[in-house]
Amino acid sequence: MDKPRDVLIYGGLAELSKNAANFFLELSLKEVSSKGVFTAALSGGHTPLALYNALSSGYYKKSVPWKNVHLFWGDERCVKPDNPQSNYGAAYNALISKVPIPAENIHRMHGEADPAEATREYDGELKRFFGGAAPVFDLVLLGLGADGHTLSIFPSSKAVREKDRLVVENYVEKLGQFRLTMTIPLVNNASNIVFLVSGEDKASVLKEVLEGEGRYPAEMIRPVNGRLVWMVDKQAAEFL
Ligand code: 6PG
Repeated sequence: MDKPRDVLIYGGLAELSKNAANFFLELSLKEVSSKGVFTAALSGGHTPLALYNALSSGYYKKSVPWKNVHLFWGDERCVKPDNPQSNYGAAYNALISKVPIPAENIHRMHGEADPAEATREYDGELKRFFGGAAPVFDLVLLGLGADGHTLSIFPSSKAVREKDRLVVENYVEKLGQFRLTMTIPLVNNASNIVFLVSGEDKASVLKEVLEGEGRYPAEMIRPVNGRLVWMVDKQAAEFL
């Protein structure tokens, strides 16, 4: 029997992002009050930027317990942090530079380094932070590509088959570039996994992924013990 899964449909990206900000805030308060820390792995791409902007303004900026929040990345492009392609750079500009989160709470993947070295380093960072046990993130935010990829796990790329490592370098044929990515087993360990999906260009792949025929990497996201939530706008939900 599949684990519980919620598909929440919103009027548009703004409403989706506001609800995602509420989800982030409520979960962070709950986890910080129960264990003193909240760990979240951020997604790259464009969809989450409205969420990051919401979290860095007004009510959320004031209410999230930033001093106890630790941010990680689900994946990263192999570029310098100041490159417009950088997932860390985008989150820095929209969120990190605007909230009182301590620098030591930011755990970025070193996209500027040699990919194999960067994944070894991040693997070490995760093991140091989570004390050597299998990391259990409180929250992993994910996006969905129109080709059914998530993180930087693209269809028929090597990372699809990775069952043991936490983080891998992954050569993406269609992009002609390496990416750094958390693996499916690591993400599936998380307590809360939230896909943010917006736009009509995602409508057909979203329907197929939710039908679960096993064609796409995004379908391999199945939390072992946690919760899977799809926060989508009505454009992406057109065929549901
Ligand atoms: C990345 C992301 C990737 C992204 C999807 C959706 O580094 O690009 O991690 O998995 O979430 O490609 O991207 P959009 O939100 O831009 O459509």
